[in-house]
Amino acid sequence: MPEKVQAPRGTFDVLPDDGRARLRLLELSEAIFGRANYGPIETPVFEATELFERGVGETTDVVEKEMFTFDDQGGRSLTLRPEGTASVCRAYVEHGMHKAAQPVKVWYWGPFFRYEAPQAGRYRQFTQVGVEALGSDDPSLDAESILLLAELLELAGARGIRFRVSSLGTAATRRAYSDELREHLRAREDQLSDDVLGRLDRNPLRAFDSDHPGTQAALRDAPRLLDRLAPDDAEHFAEVRLLLDDAGLEYELDGTLVRGLDYYTRTVFEVESTELGAQSALGGGGRYDGLVELLGGPATPGVGWAAGVERILLAAKEPVEPARPSVFVALADGAAAAAAFALARDLRSRGVATELEQAGRSLKGQMKHADRLGAAHVVIVGESIEIKDMASGEQHAVATMEDAVAELA
Ligand code: HAM
Repeated sequence: MPEKVQAPRGTFDVLPDDGRARLRLLELSEAIFGRANYGPIETPVFEATELFERGVGETTDVVEKEMFTFDDQGGRSLTLRPEGTASVCRAYVEHGMHKAAQPVKVWYWGPFFRYEAPQAGRYRQFTQVGVEALGSDDPSLDAESILLLAELLELAGARGIRFRVSSLGTAATRRAYSDELREHLRAREDQLSDDVLGRLDRNPLRAFDSDHPGTQAALRDAPRLLDRLAPDDAEHFAEVRLLLDDAGLEYELDGTLVRGLDYYTRTVFEVESTELGAQSALGGGGRYDGLVELLGGPATPGVGWAAGVERILLAAKEPVEPARPSVFVALADGAAAAAAFALARDLRSRGVATELEQAGRSLKGQMKHADRLGAAHVVIVGESIEIKDMASGEQHAVATMEDAVAELA
């Protein structure tokens, strides 16, 4: 026997019960974002590698270690998208969307790829749902974005939700702060992990992501970026917070919040679930006011987030309702197969969920199968046509297929 071929490490198959739960979340997303006038957008699953190198940042883990990058037959370097924001900004520039009425609001759902060590809730192919609003730096967009995420998680039934919110200020503030933090950490070099030390020159802020005890100790009395914000950034953030407070959102103000991607400016946020293990981040995002320009477009502010679909469903653990056909079409004898097939099609076209015998079971076997599927009625097609009500056990004959359809549809 040939050896079995298995799915690649870190990938997974979605079987029908999970598939239904995912579809429900997708429908919920479309309803919530549609109400707020966010339109669906789709961008390619692979992009020029340069998009992420420039957009996400060369010193980020994502770009340094986690991208699936390959050369195509024409020698161009392509990358399976590790995130969606850079792609949305590229599309915004490529399609001249800055000429449309601003802000441009979009949402997306699809597969993303990161070469990470697989574990529960962490995959190499995963699904993100996300929103982006480009073309305005109004603080109400930051608040709207965060509240859309909160609404999605609430309606999806995700449990143990905790929001953390902060502000990173502008790129210039961040640069000045980076220098200050670098100096602070340089003075405590012997406490730092090799990883943090190695990145100290290029990106000292990433030290806040480290769970290394020495690094954490060195950071305890470090200056906080939140205390270094320029007056308009501080005011912008205060307005965002006011709107969140008015909306009654519970969140923690966390001055140590840094995100793993380099494009953020001003507001940043993350949401986690206490129901999940180590991979507790359900979603995250923030403002990226320099990204469109970095990708060759006009200076354009933007804000948005993405959340992990698999993680939302893990945190919701909502029992999945099995799909039930309303009618099961059974065959009294093989000669009725074509008529039964036509009846099933007719019922389905009238919106009746219908299953059909297609595995050569005996009539007794078919009745058992229909019962297991939870069908409300069975139509037994043979020389006569009988309809059985599965709940009461009552069974009666009808004269024609049309009569059967009229009764069941
Ligand atoms: P991110 O924080 O890198 O942000 O990813 C968002 C979410 O995607 C995470 O919170 C997590 O739920 C999910 N996720 C990430 N990696 C994996 C993985 N390996 N397996 C399973 N789930 C994963 C972004 O991607 C930004 N583009 C968000 C954004 C949009 N910022 C502004 N706009």
